[in-house]
Amino acid sequence: MVEDDSGLSVDTIAIDGPAASGKTTIGRLLAAKLGYQMLDTGFMYRAATLAALDAGIDVEDETAVTRLAREIELDVRDGARHGDGRLYSALLNGRDVTWQLRDPAVARNVSAVASYLGVRQALVEKQRRFGEQGKVVMVGRDIGTVVFPDARLKLYITATAEERARRRALDNQAQGHGGDVEVILADIKRRDALDSQRKHSPLLPADDAVIIDSSVITPDEIIDQIMGLLDGDGEWR
Ligand code: DC
Repeated sequence: MVEDDSGLSVDTIAIDGPAASGKTTIGRLLAAKLGYQMLDTGFMYRAATLAALDAGIDVEDETAVTRLAREIELDVRDGARHGDGRLYSALLNGRDVTWQLRDPAVARNVSAVASYLGVRQALVEKQRRFGEQGKVVMVGRDIGTVVFPDARLKLYITATAEERARRRALDNQAQGHGGDVEVILADIKRRDALDSQRKHSPLLPADDAVIIDSSVITPDEIIDQIMGLLDGDGEWR
């Protein structure tokens, strides 16, 4: 990680926000524009959950899940060459699990796994190691508050629950899954509550985060807005 005189990580951009707020899309566009790497940290919590389910470990068994989270090897690769709509390829112990991470069983159990302090410590360590390479846009729930509190630019992307449900339904339909907006809305509200009320690293904008409501502006307009905060080299004005 590169630090300037003030000790801030000049080439780390933190993006946080609730489920389906558009933060991953913004992260991807911003990383492409700046020539940075993008890490969607949600994949790590999903991969730890998948590893537990595959190993037949009860996700309520905090000790066993935490041990597993420390042991697993996680990696990401560029996903473009697959041509199947993935933003990146997710590797769990060297195995490509990109689509398994979207499994409903993973979605049902990931909030429990992400609530464990030991799991979070293990995965935050992996995230910081990734960030040490510099020039990274990191997307999650606690990047600006916990993982990189010294990131030069912190964004908090949000949108109304209704708008997020509508977008998620369109995504699901495009992928050939069910897209009942009411069901999705209920799930989004449930996840919002779990993410923001959990004891460790709850979803919360950092004090110095720039808050962007994506309900009414397009991703391109948001990118223009963000680029207005940076100079041509991707540095803070
Ligand atoms: O962004 P996502 O839906 O893939 O996240 C999956 C889960 O992981 C969700 O319950 C929130 C949690 N998560 C987290 O606690 N901290 C992060 N930095 C990223 C995701």
